[in-house]
Amino acid sequence: MSIRNIDSFTHTRGESVYLDDIPLVNGTLFASVFGSPVAHGKILQINITEAASMEGVVRIFTYKDIPGKNQIGGIIPDETLLATDEVHYMGMPVVLVVADSAEIAAAAVKKITIEIEKYPVVTNPRTAHANGSLIVPPRTFKIGDSENIFENCTHIFEGVAETNGQEHLYIETQGAYAIPGENNSIRIISSTQGPTAVQKHSSEVLGIAMHRVEVDTTRLGGGFGGKEDQATSWAVFCALAAWLLKKPVKYSLNRMEDLRMTGKRHPYSSDFRIGLDKDLKILAYEVNFYQNAGASADLSPAVLERTLFHCTNSYFVPNVTAKAFSCRTNLPPNTAFRGFGGPQGMFVIEAAIAKAADALGIPAAEIQQKNLVKTGDEFPYGQKAASEANECWQKAIDLYEINKIKDDIIRFNNEQVLFKKGFSFMPICFGISFTKILMNQARALVHVYLDGSVNISTGAVEMGQGVNTKMLQVAANIFTIAPEKIRVNSTNTYRIANTSPSAASATADLNGKAVQIACEKILERLRVSAAEILACDAAAVEIRNGVVQVNQKAVSLNWDELVNASYLKRINLSEHGHYATPGINFDNTVEKGHPFAYHVYGTAFTTVTVDCIRGIYEIDAVKLVHDFGTSMNPLIDRGQIEGGLVQGIGWMTMEEIVYDEEGRLRSNALSTYKVPDIYSVPKELDIHFLETTNDNLAIFRSKAVGEPPLMYGIGTFFALRNAIKAFNPHSDIPFSAPMTPEKTLMALYSNK
Ligand code: MTE
Ligand code: HPA
Ligand code: MOS
Repeated sequence: MSIRNIDSFTHTRGESVYLDDIPLVNGTLFASVFGSPVAHGKILQINITEAASMEGVVRIFTYKDIPGKNQIGGIIPDETLLATDEVHYMGMPVVLVVADSAEIAAAAVKKITIEIEKYPVVTNPRTAHANGSLIVPPRTFKIGDSENIFENCTHIFEGVAETNGQEHLYIETQGAYAIPGENNSIRIISSTQGPTAVQKHSSEVLGIAMHRVEVDTTRLGGGFGGKEDQATSWAVFCALAAWLLKKPVKYSLNRMEDLRMTGKRHPYSSDFRIGLDKDLKILAYEVNFYQNAGASADLSPAVLERTLFHCTNSYFVPNVTAKAFSCRTNLPPNTAFRGFGGPQGMFVIEAAIAKAADALGIPAAEIQQKNLVKTGDEFPYGQKAASEANECWQKAIDLYEINKIKDDIIRFNNEQVLFKKGFSFMPICFGISFTKILMNQARALVHVYLDGSVNISTGAVEMGQGVNTKMLQVAANIFTIAPEKIRVNSTNTYRIANTSPSAASATADLNGKAVQIACEKILERLRVSAAEILACDAAAVEIRNGVVQVNQKAVSLNWDELVNASYLKRINLSEHGHYATPGINFDNTVEKGHPFAYHVYGTAFTTVTVDCIRGIYEIDAVKLVHDFGTSMNPLIDRGQIEGGLVQGIGWMTMEEIVYDEEGRLRSNALSTYKVPDIYSVPKELDIHFLETTNDNLAIFRSKAVGEPPLMYGIGTFFALRNAIKAFNPHSDIPFSAPMTPEKTLMALYSNK
């Protein structure tokens, strides 16, 4: 049973509530942060006198005002809320201003001056690595013996591959609203993917127990990973000011502040070496990943780990040595972004294959298809594949008659001089589960009210991905009642404790299972109650379509009546469900285990046309086959594929983050940072739902869909590359994404 997205009605009418739609409490104050104007240095003096004397400025706080810990590091305690003696990136919060209005707060920030003794600024991860400046010790994933196997390889290729960062550009910027309550409690409304992270860090910074901190999130205007960790500081700023002033405090960042002060997708620079035998089997692969982590750890170590997990993408490679370095630079801490390091890892092996294909004068697809993982193949981290990556690939070839498209492209390129077409295949294989095992748990609270209506709370945060609709579907499915009878609550730490962030594409799986568990327990009590009421055997009772059945025959006892009668009999109509993914493990002393509940597969076929005079291009078509399992909601899932793909295309083709040598963000507005718009969408977009019914650990066998489609966008880079090669076979095209029109133009005429 699929239903319409439960938010579609209020979204279209503009009635959905985001942070800025919440009516303000009388006396609300507004915060703004003064961020460091220098990327690295020692603070000598901060001058706040002029700002403090402005009319409407209520108070200016520094780290000295923090009652608890001045620490918000998620994985490693290396991130202060407010700078103490040093600054490590431009925009790093130094001073918190609170004023009567947001305008006054922002104006006051501009009046603050700071004296800083400048230290050298590092923005390049390889420089940081050379300086020994790493966030965590290097990690190595290894299978087989690549070092010795290279000797047996017929073909060996090596090179460098680089991917730039990416701005999340959630439509709703970061923000929060904190309201002090009675008895030293505080309520924080936060645009966060991780309400518990906000609760935990607020409690630590304020020096109070977590049970005094209520965090509430109705929905986000997008997160894309940018609010998994980095929503925390803004919420804690509000909490801190609200706590100290005993007044409600709100902070909703303007776009430029958000662009400047928050981290992005991690840029990576990597070295690869790939070895193939005479039949094009990849025998060995070695890769060194240099991750640009920014100034503090944030989620970088976990992102780094996922890069390693996905370093062979959909391919089986028997001998792999993959090393990864998380390099500390003077940029804002980079963070989670759809794919979480996976796309960066996949790009490099795709580059290695493209390099090999170029040198051998064959299409990359020949190497790609030959090496797709088969059931039982072992990934470098020890888990074995449970499906055939070729299933989606072959389906795409057959369904879309790709060989015919290829012929058309060859003909086009033979006939045309100034326009050239290129194509690529992009297979994906993405592991589902948080790579940190303990995070793979979720809770749900289900209440059935005495009128038969149902209210569910989970740890899932709605950010546009439709998770609330899916949660509602789970309850509707188990109770077999109409969706209208069910309501999904905001995500709230007082109702649901110890939530994992809504991330890793696992939100629906984890929280859906918790809803399922809670609903099944209530349903079981209702069945027993119905049997008592009807004086029959409980085993004969079922509830179907909201009506009680005895031996598969409907009787005159419907859901509402049964619920009410059960309430009168004092039966518990509420339940709390807890789910922890079974069977997953990982031992990072040997870097082996079974970290993923399952993998999601797919293949995208991309065709592009390059205008060889101007260097501009169009994405003609993306035709893909995606393994949805048994989709719970095809409309929502299609939206995830479309959005993810276009976001991936943006990362690969136009989104160009530029920091100068001083660590200043140059692409600090939408006039200097180009994001995909409706014209960037492929002219043709075909999505085929590969329905697989393998028993897996997903909710109702619906495989997770949130992040994987982003990686189809990588295909665009390689299709463009092939179009350029069609124009100029000797062109020198660095594996450096994004492939902007400027870079395309340079490549078209390189080595000519
Ligand atoms: N879709 C929308 N519309 N908005 C978002 O912020 N985030 C993506 C993806 N799809 C996002 C989105 C990311 S990074 C993840 S991890 C998943 O959704 C999270 O939700 P899920 O676990 O329910 O798939
Ligand atoms: N994905 C997303 N977020 C995470 C993960 C992950 O694997 N691990 C920790 N946070
Ligand atoms: Mo998504 S990057 O796991 O929030």
